[in-house]
Amino acid sequence: MNILIIHGPNLNLLGIREPNIYGHDSQSDLFSFIESSFPKINFIFFQSNHEGEIIDKIHQTMQFDINQKPINGIVINPGAFTHYSYAIRDAIQSISLPVVEVHLSNINNREEFRKKSVTKDVCIDSIFGMGKNGYINAIKKIMDIS
Ligand code: DQA
Repeated sequence: MNILIIHGPNLNLLGIREPNIYGHDSQSDLFSFIESSFPKINFIFFQSNHEGEIIDKIHQTMQFDINQKPINGIVINPGAFTHYSYAIRDAIQSISLPVVEVHLSNINNREEFRKKSVTKDVCIDSIFGMGKNGYINAIKKIMDIS
């Protein structure tokens, strides 16, 4: 299996950025944790601070493969784009792969603007407030339906 993990803006700063909310693990610690939790799955990790680059990466999965690897599903943490990017929502809706949205923090329990996800309705599930274990659950959901 091949699973694409997409991280949106500011998630490259994990470990440094608001550790009281997002924890002390860096993004590469998180990616290593994911890889070691599923040794048989091949992961493609992608992070961008740019909306268009995230959309391009989602579109690439419509081709036969990325780097010769057919993609079975996507786990996406769109960061703040979650709350307003109709363009990322449309990109997710345009592909036929299962996509699971993940947030490290509990977006329902923070500022008002974070309560709205414009992307979640086009995903098969939305997981939040479970820290890095949210990614594990998201990957299991994709495995279950693949
Ligand atoms: C986040 C929550 C978003 O509101 C925020 O903008 C992020 C991270 C999370 O993982 O909890 O960048 O997606």
